[in-house]
Amino acid sequence: MQKRRLPLLITAATLLLTGSGLSPQTARAERLPAFGLVADIQYADKPGGVSRDYRGSLSRLEQCVTNLNAQDLDFVIQLGDAIDGYGTNRVASVRDLDSVLSVFNRLSAPKYHVAGNHCQSAGKENLLGRLGLKSFYYAFADPAAKGWRFIVLDGNDAGYGIISEEQLAWFRTALGQAQQAGEKVICFCHFPLLKAAAESNRMAKPEPVLAALDSAPCVVAWIAGHDHNGGYARRKGVHHITLRGMVEAPGSTAYARIEIAGDRLRETGFGNEPSRELPLATNAPARRLSFENGRTWPSDAGARINAHGGGLLFRDGLYYWYGEHKIEGKAGNAAHVGVHAYSSRDLTNWKDEGSALAVSDDPASDIAKECVLERPKVIYNAKTGKYVMWFHLELKGQGYGAARSGVAVADTPTGPFTYLHSERPDAGVWPVNATDEQKAALQKVDRMKGLTFSGGPNADTPKHAILARDFAGGQMARDMTLFVDDDQKAYHIFASEENSTLHISLLSDDYLSHAGKYVRVFPNRWSEAPAICKRQGRYWMITSGCTGWAPNAARAAVADSIWGPWQELGNPCAGVNPMNGCGPDKTFGGQSTYILPVQGRRDAFIALFDIWKPDNAIDGRYVWLPLRFTDAGFTITWANTWDLSVFDPAAR
Ligand code: GAL
Repeated sequence: MQKRRLPLLITAATLLLTGSGLSPQTARAERLPAFGLVADIQYADKPGGVSRDYRGSLSRLEQCVTNLNAQDLDFVIQLGDAIDGYGTNRVASVRDLDSVLSVFNRLSAPKYHVAGNHCQSAGKENLLGRLGLKSFYYAFADPAAKGWRFIVLDGNDAGYGIISEEQLAWFRTALGQAQQAGEKVICFCHFPLLKAAAESNRMAKPEPVLAALDSAPCVVAWIAGHDHNGGYARRKGVHHITLRGMVEAPGSTAYARIEIAGDRLRETGFGNEPSRELPLATNAPARRLSFENGRTWPSDAGARINAHGGGLLFRDGLYYWYGEHKIEGKAGNAAHVGVHAYSSRDLTNWKDEGSALAVSDDPASDIAKECVLERPKVIYNAKTGKYVMWFHLELKGQGYGAARSGVAVADTPTGPFTYLHSERPDAGVWPVNATDEQKAALQKVDRMKGLTFSGGPNADTPKHAILARDFAGGQMARDMTLFVDDDQKAYHIFASEENSTLHISLLSDDYLSHAGKYVRVFPNRWSEAPAICKRQGRYWMITSGCTGWAPNAARAAVADSIWGPWQELGNPCAGVNPMNGCGPDKTFGGQSTYILPVQGRRDAFIALFDIWKPDNAIDGRYVWLPLRFTDAGFTITWANTWDLSVFDPAAR
């Protein structure tokens, strides 16, 4: 390991006297300057709660120290709340602080500290002494990171989450000097500044700090902790990174390494902390390297990706993601906009391609504004060269009674698509597995006139011949997906018969209508939200139960032929989403929508779920998780954060 020079500490006083104070770069190993980060260790020798694991933070810190020591870093910085603390009980708080430091100080790289709000319970003097600081705000340089200045701020010196005027004046001076010296600056503070980077907890008075950043183009990043869910946003060229809290990672961990290249910062997250590539050029977008489940996912346009109940298509090196464009509030459960499309090369960075199919302003149209237009899926027809979209359509003002399938077509993947027609599938056709009894029930259909059925599991619906009732007019079709097989035959899979039974229906060669062959599967199981893939010649399906917007347990199934027989395999999910406490019985709070085969990787499939927010539809979240095939079927295990390297042969 290379021999390190001691970093240069620039105190408030020396900074004012000496300007930049940076020393010349020393000869060093062939690697970029890099530092480690850990936030909200929040250790306490006490039991934890649902997601907080105070005691376990110490062993996570031990592992973190071991890993960071193996990485030859230039320094490591602790971003505050090293302990949870015990209010006014300084003795107990200091004892925990000593425990944390006994581990943290095993780091071989130079160490820096940021003071957090919880740390205060140890008492300022104790804290300064033990952290080896003269002030909670200071600047430092590192010989390896030539041309960079690091500024540490104290978010508590004028109260909880408030920076004093005195400190602000020092900060502005420090920034001015960095600017003059042509240096780039990274600021560290316990508190995030932006809601976009920290949904729940931030600095109480961020405005003067933001104003200081605005007048200092040398600032590249503001790195904080405090909001344990972490986050990221970019404002006026500054990357605002909020690290996930180590205390919230039972069974996992959360910390990061940041590498400084000439034109970018590269964050490598460990455990729950995501990885990102952060360009320094003001107008270049950050690249997300990880899936961050349950978060809002921004597109290149900055706004959150608005593609719910979505499906994907891969064409010419690009993935296209189509989904329901929701608006705010309960009104967002109906279609005010239509289908939104995005494109991506890597599945984590998405370009906003705008509206793929717009609802119509003509109230007479099937897809009139405020109809219900759900679960759009697009497939490409190689024979016609057309992109074909199918979706679940409910006519405006008719609740969920119409139960139709809509079809639209386009010449390019992003459209705009032209709406063609809607229908109830398979009118006048019996399924291939219809029984004589089901066919004979045609005679009884008149007796069903005027009967209504609830769309959820009930004992009543199965007593009636819904299949025969809808024989003439076409079968009901609600939650749906599409699937194109290796022979280019396409199938429409949908919840039918008052949601009691799934139908799998072959599409015509041009994919624009049904071919007149279908099968009933999982009768009276009330399966919704079908998603399907093919692996090693077998067909694999995920569905949900039927409880409206509320989550329920997912179901896995397998078949050797798409026509069945389909065998149910039980619930494939494992683990808990700490953001809502939902485990496998609630599918992490989500509902399936699609299974995506990852291009260029063998046996790599991603299961896509929606966390619905019916009270504020636009706030629905996405959960994408790797599907792991086992001897018995497949499993889907919760991960806060993950990336495609899980599919690398070495990671399997
Ligand atoms: C869900 C379905 C959604 C939507 C919702 C309406 O079960 O999967 O797509 O139709 O019901 O309540």
